[in-house]
Amino acid sequence: MSASEAIRSKNYVEVNYDDKIPNNVDLGSDRQLQRALESWRPDYLEWWKEAGPDGFQDADVYLRTAVGVDPSGWAVFDHVKMPEYRWGILLAPQEEGRRIPFGRHKGEPAWQEVPGEYRSVLRRLIVVQGDTEPASVEQQRYLGQTAPSLYDMRNLFQVNVEEGRHLWAMVYLLVKYFGRDGREEAKGLLERRSADKNNPRILGAFNERTPDWLSFFMFTYFTDRDGKMQLAALAQSGFDPLSRSCRFMLTEEAHHLFVGETGVGRTIEATVKAMNAAGITDPYDAEAIRALGVIDLPTLQRKANFHMSVTRDLFGSEVSSNGAELYSSGLKGRYEETRIDDDHVLADATYPVMTVRDGEIVTDELPALSAINSRLLDDYIKDCQGGIDRWNKVVANAGIDFRFVQPHKGFNRKIGEFAGHSITPEGDLISAEEFEARRDEWLCNEADHEFINSLMKPCYEPGKYASWIAPPRAGINSKPGDFEYVKIYDNDAAAGE
Ligand SMILES: [Fe+2]
Ligand SMILES: [Fe+2]
Repeated sequence: MSASEAIRSKNYVEVNYDDKIPNNVDLGSDRQLQRALESWRPDYLEWWKEAGPDGFQDADVYLRTAVGVDPSGWAVFDHVKMPEYRWGILLAPQEEGRRIPFGRHKGEPAWQEVPGEYRSVLRRLIVVQGDTEPASVEQQRYLGQTAPSLYDMRNLFQVNVEEGRHLWAMVYLLVKYFGRDGREEAKGLLERRSADKNNPRILGAFNERTPDWLSFFMFTYFTDRDGKMQLAALAQSGFDPLSRSCRFMLTEEAHHLFVGETGVGRTIEATVKAMNAAGITDPYDAEAIRALGVIDLPTLQRKANFHMSVTRDLFGSEVSSNGAELYSSGLKGRYEETRIDDDHVLADATYPVMTVRDGEIVTDELPALSAINSRLLDDYIKDCQGGIDRWNKVVANAGIDFRFVQPHKGFNRKIGEFAGHSITPEGDLISAEEFEARRDEWLCNEADHEFINSLMKPCYEPGKYASWIAPPRAGINSKPGDFEYVKIYDNDAAAGE
């Protein structure tokens, strides 16, 4: 059954694909909203063509499209041209009688409309989240041209169309609930551009470049995981439409994290296999290892160090009155709020926060409310560890003496308690001069990037993979190894529009 057939068949009545904009929010019953979104749509498509994947707009890509919000079987797979992807508005089902789970409104019925007193903070929250979605598409726009396989290219484009859909999810909230201001913000989301001098994206990490595939995999493992944590905190929101939007977005986010974890894991696998085949046991013999056309493990660690530290900055200041107010007002909760065993108001609670005082890193017990961001960051760091442990298993199984680790929380930070301090990955406070002198031990330098870049050659033959990355364990949707995930036509591969 093709996607369009499946979409029309009775199994998937949940989402209305007859409307121009697929949705499960009964868009047809709200003419004004429908018109507003339909008039935003051409601008969105303009943005997609101008700032989305460069080339490949006519390629047939094996994409999954959401056809429902039921966790079992919400997606169908088919070859689709990206500009024809059915970007839709999908909310998790409304929970009967849901109540605000935390803050000073705890226990009141969840808001179905915007609470007037929080209107502008709530709008800002949605805009900041919304801004990250198109930003990551922009950051990744040239990667198709150096894809290490059709499988990986397909995964890139899947992530891209879903980030585009996440933008739709936030724009729906802005347009439906924030009137004229919301429509202005929805326009602004298509006007800012990642790394643009005059009109950049809102958050720092989303103005960094994603210049190569290793960066892409690190980004999807570490930075999409920030997305997961933010969405999980917003999924707790007392503003029910935001909660429902984020709950469905989380199901898509899981695939992005999978792409990152397995992408880095397969890179490690190719490296250790090549080392074993060549009889190299010293993981620090970079020259010999690089000569095999794979990326040495210490370089992967340095690359990870960069992505971890930049992403940790996305959590904002560890101690924040703004974070406290978002929590107390019931707009943004903690990770897994409803599973935490406390009063969910936190008036007298404390939380340990690391800081630098008198030339030492110390831990203070601070009011838990002001430490909300700090807690989310700690939860994020814990959440990062699972994949790192699995990467280490690949290394250990190959009999190579090397371990990937997370750097100290204060390493290379630009925002929060550690900003302005120089801290090694081991957690030693050092001088700025020493940090500069030793920077190459901890972060990739020019030569590392040049080497990584030299490996970024496209590999478009079905079932074939670039030297530096191992094939996946299984295909997408159980497809065989030589499946043609992307059908490229002559004019696609040409660079530029
Ligand atoms: Fe997203
Ligand atoms: Fe994502």
